[in-house]
Amino acid sequence: DWRLLTDDDLDALQGAYIEAARLAFEAGFDAVDIKSCHGYLINELLACHTRPGRYGGSFENRTRFLLGVIDRIREELGPDKAIVSRLGVYDAIPYPYGWGVDKDDYRKPDLTEPKRLIAAMVERGVRMINITIANPYYNPHIGRPFNEPIAGGYQEPEHPIVGVARMIRLAGEIQREFPRVAIVGTGYSWLRALMPNVAAASKANGLATLIGGGRMAFAYPDFAKDILMKGAMSPQKVCVACSACTQIMRDGGRTGCVVRDNKVYGPIFELGRMSDPEHLRLLAQACRGCQEPTCQLGCPAGIRIPDFIHRFLDGDERGAYEVLREANIFPEVCAWLCPVEQQCQGSCLEGFIGAGALPIADIQRYLAVQANKNGWSKLRLPKESTGRTVAVIGAGPAGLACAARLLEAGHCVTIFDKHRQAGGMVDSVIPAYRQSDSLHNELEAVFADVPQGRLTRRLGTQLDAGYNLDTILGEGFDAAFIGMGLPQSLGLASEKLDGLYGALEFLAAAKGGQVDLRGRQVAVIGGGNTAMDAAVTAMRLGARDVYVVYRRSFQEMPAWGGQRDEAIAEGVHFLILTQPLGYVGRDGKLAAVKVCPTRLGAPDAGGRRRPQAVESSAYELAMDVVVEAIGQQIPAAFETTLPGVRLSGGKIAVDDRLMTSRRGVFAGGDLVRGASTVVAAVADGMKAATYIGEYLAGGV
Ligand SMILES: Cc1cc2nc3c(=O)[nH]c(=O)nc-3n(C[C@H](O)[C@H](O)[C@H](O)COP(=O)(O)OP(=O)(O)OC[C@H]3O[C@@H](n4cnc5c(N)ncnc54)[C@H](O)[C@@H]3O)c2cc1C
Ligand SMILES: Cc1cc2nc3c(=O)[nH]c(=O)nc-3n(C[C@H](O)[C@H](O)[C@H](O)COP(=O)(O)O)c2cc1C
Ligand code: SF4
Ligand code: SF4
Repeated sequence: DWRLLTDDDLDALQGAYIEAARLAFEAGFDAVDIKSCHGYLINELLACHTRPGRYGGSFENRTRFLLGVIDRIREELGPDKAIVSRLGVYDAIPYPYGWGVDKDDYRKPDLTEPKRLIAAMVERGVRMINITIANPYYNPHIGRPFNEPIAGGYQEPEHPIVGVARMIRLAGEIQREFPRVAIVGTGYSWLRALMPNVAAASKANGLATLIGGGRMAFAYPDFAKDILMKGAMSPQKVCVACSACTQIMRDGGRTGCVVRDNKVYGPIFELGRMSDPEHLRLLAQACRGCQEPTCQLGCPAGIRIPDFIHRFLDGDERGAYEVLREANIFPEVCAWLCPVEQQCQGSCLEGFIGAGALPIADIQRYLAVQANKNGWSKLRLPKESTGRTVAVIGAGPAGLACAARLLEAGHCVTIFDKHRQAGGMVDSVIPAYRQSDSLHNELEAVFADVPQGRLTRRLGTQLDAGYNLDTILGEGFDAAFIGMGLPQSLGLASEKLDGLYGALEFLAAAKGGQVDLRGRQVAVIGGGNTAMDAAVTAMRLGARDVYVVYRRSFQEMPAWGGQRDEAIAEGVHFLILTQPLGYVGRDGKLAAVKVCPTRLGAPDAGGRRRPQAVESSAYELAMDVVVEAIGQQIPAAFETTLPGVRLSGGKIAVDDRLMTSRRGVFAGGDLVRGASTVVAAVADGMKAATYIGEYLAGGV
């Protein structure tokens, strides 16, 4: 739907090409390549038979842009600058819209004009041209013969080898006409391990001077080295023409070979596919709309999953989002972070008796992204405020969800947090690679346009014995919600050592870019999700080796399966049945961790077999850094920070309406549940807002 470019626009664009060339030479490149193929601007202009004005119609007009760019580079940047071009010589699009085609039958190339153009380029000093054909968006099989099409694409109407042969023949025709120009052949990747043989034959027969590898370079970056050093390419490393790299590009990701470089590009491919509504709709068709939806029972927020899936299937994306939102105000963040294999997807009937669980989280993420983009997720505030004020202490998922719902009920909210950024653990600790930008996208979209008077953010305000709950309630708030989480790491160490971290401090410092572990030996103590995050983070920060030291076996490990497997895939070593006994320090610096093997005894109260240390076999492991990830606890000086709020078993005690022992003070999230999940904290916050509303109305 773009407006047509005018001739003046094209004149100006020519200037941009010259500027780009100037920058390339300034950056130290020896040559510039003027892309004139694959349906991009210059290639389109070459086919502008029907365009009026200076850039359409005659051969001179259609080639004016490309030749003008070459002339201007020569004139403005110097006659010695090397210019090469990637030139499409045959579009396979019917005349008058195609270039290099037979006017009566576009399926036949006619190289008369391309050869005339090449002669003009050669006259201007161009000495190397890569010959290519077709438009990858319109007829990809012609320029990129493949075995598998992209989603929604077509199966090749001809055997791929016919396409390969066509490209070789056309490049050969040009090479024979211009024997002194280095013609680069294209489209050889489908040939797999035979590529060098055919390339050699092309060269020997004067059909090209050089051969380029497109997809082969993704799949097998050192293919040229193997040809030179080993005389052959490995069949195990070649491109298999599956089009997955193209699929990534179409889905908007950074591309590479999904088959041969799966660790990097597999997840990008998967994310792209799982963000495509057409693909998701196909998968969603498997939903049985169960009478007893086990998926819903698996969701801590109780989202009516079959309902949102069926609305999505019917094309009612807004309606589907509304179903999500009524139970979970932050569905985008949760779609990234929820342990779905333990929750909705792990409970889906189709996973037990069908072809596999529905991609519930992916559909949720897609809908949430649409909602956040289109302004559907904005809070809906009543015009008039109730005039009642609530203090929300802690801007983590629980506090934010509570604040959102209180605002929608018309109350005025003040949020307090010791950090300057909202988001709790999700913002400060959970690694960015597991959540993309979902938190900030969602917070921005949900809290957009909330007027100052309704929401006051007192971020950077720490509650402690001096500035405590009494002080805050003394300001006249009608009620309070506490969502302060479990902000302190539990530790084994009795002394401070340089190199010894608590997991939360380590992850926060890593997220802030303050940790460099290149070449270091790192141990992570613990077997939970936090330990897995710390271990993977340490690997990604360049640690030489990372050891997870865990006193029980894999079976008892509390980390979610997905998190554990990711750590294994990342190269983390697991020292299971190994108990840490203490640390060895030298001049205040950590030098080693002392460990011993364990044996598993009888089950403890939680049902897991109890480890028994075999201290007689203790040994030391030299370490530069140790991260203790053995648990979290409530804030220090709890009693003086939250006077009147009683604990039970190390957590805040609440009644079934989430009210604490102090009247009018409610609580939820990790501080009440123990270390839990984002979705559970969000559900608590939303529920607490309802109970606070009832309390304010005098109903409690
Ligand atoms: C490493 C790690 C990885 C995790 N991974 C996942 C995951 O993948 N999926 C998942 O669902 N859950 C995960 N969790 C758990 C999840 O982060 C928590 O369950 C969730 O954040 C709890 O929300 P909350 O609002 O109760 O508390 P928090 O998120 O902890 O928020 C509490 C807020 O209170 C503030 N606060 C605390 N003390 C004070 C004070 N004295 N004064 C002022 N403000 C204060 C804090 O700054 C913080 O912003 C992970 C947790 C950790 C530690
Ligand atoms: C994922 C992907 C990205 C591509 N990007 C470009 C590009 O940016 N510029 C370009 O000139 N050609 C691009 N191509 C086309 C290739 O350079 C090449 O012409 C085509 O893949 C056929 O050659 P091959 O058989 O060696 O792959 C791309 C091809 C693929 C598969
Ligand atoms: S994903 Fe890999 S194997 Fe598939 S076409 Fe691209 S480079 Fe070839
Ligand atoms: S359990 Fe699975 S199949 Fe059944 S309604 Fe839920 S998502 Fe659909």
